[in-house]
Amino acid sequence: MELLCIQSQEHPKLPQGELKAVIECEEMKTSLDIITEGLVILKDISPEDIDDYYQILTRRLGYTHEVHQILKTSDIKNFEEDVLSINWQDYIDENFAVRVKRFNSKIDTVAYERKAGSLILEKCENIKVKLNKPKSLVRVVAFEDIIYIAIEKYHLNKKHFEEIKPHKRPFFYPGSMSPKLARCMVNLSRVKAGQLVLDPFCGTGGILIEAGLIGCKVVGSDVNWKMKNGTAINLDYCGITDYRTFHLDVRELKMYEKVAGVVTDPPYGISTSTGDIDGDDIFKEFFHAIYDNMADDAYLCMASPHYVDLNPMIDDVGFELVEQYSIKMHRSLTRIISVIKKS
Ligand SMILES: C[S@@+](CC[C@H](N)C(=O)[O-])C[C@H]1O[C@@H](n2cnc3c(N)ncnc32)[C@H](O)[C@@H]1O
Repeated sequence: MELLCIQSQEHPKLPQGELKAVIECEEMKTSLDIITEGLVILKDISPEDIDDYYQILTRRLGYTHEVHQILKTSDIKNFEEDVLSINWQDYIDENFAVRVKRFNSKIDTVAYERKAGSLILEKCENIKVKLNKPKSLVRVVAFEDIIYIAIEKYHLNKKHFEEIKPHKRPFFYPGSMSPKLARCMVNLSRVKAGQLVLDPFCGTGGILIEAGLIGCKVVGSDVNWKMKNGTAINLDYCGITDYRTFHLDVRELKMYEKVAGVVTDPPYGISTSTGDIDGDDIFKEFFHAIYDNMADDAYLCMASPHYVDLNPMIDDVGFELVEQYSIKMHRSLTRIISVIKKS
């Protein structure tokens, strides 16, 4: 069986990297087929796993917009016949809408929506078309001459990423990254629900909110007590209960339990924001402080500015670089997202 993911195209590699990390840490048995940027298919999923995998993906992913179960892979020539071959009554409850999305395809979306809709109505009794908030969504995705006919079973809550933007949280301070990137970084750290995640520069708690929402236990610390308290306020607001916060300089960090993942956005720039540690030394201090607090198989996912070379520091402490992504912020700043583990 197959699942089709429609992904964000705001970055060429991060959405795929995030998906691969989730497949890896959730030990999902599947093979990935990257059709084009924004369209990925998970193949060879056994019928016993399909529902679990579907729910994991919709619960976790940040840079994937939609996940659908493929019912038939068709093409322009066989589309009508293939739509008619599907037992729609097994998938449609009361009412439905058909929506078509194109990737490198010139098909007429409205004509295909109408065509598929009327063929489905022809085959099934007691169902209606409902364009606004239908109970069942039939997703038709065209890539070149191929047409995937799919159904949405679990909805990915994209609204969350809007509703929880930094300025909409009860405790706000500038400098918190977008919730989507925070979620993606949590996923890149390959942690699972129930595991312990640490952000030693927690600020307003943006990263910990995302880790908490996928079911992780979270720990945040910050050299600034206002931030430590603000993180707690924001975590409470998001209904996250399994958390602890500490008021600590990263150099003093001594965890009561080794963590399964560290996800963080260290400060950079002026020394006033780094707890009196000189400029780029914050990264060196951080790597030394964090190493012993991590379980042997734990991953660290962190952001840094392009002008700081992390490589010698990573080697020096005994870490290994797994993967790296760059995000252009503006003309003079590129943010580097690094995934690191103990070597
Ligand atoms: C870029 S902000 C983190 C933003 C955070 N991800 C959020 O969602 O708000 C960096 C944080 O590191 C904290 N910080 C600076 N120096 C520190 C140090 N030496 N030890 C621990 N925290 C420190 C700052 O107080 C600041 O809140």
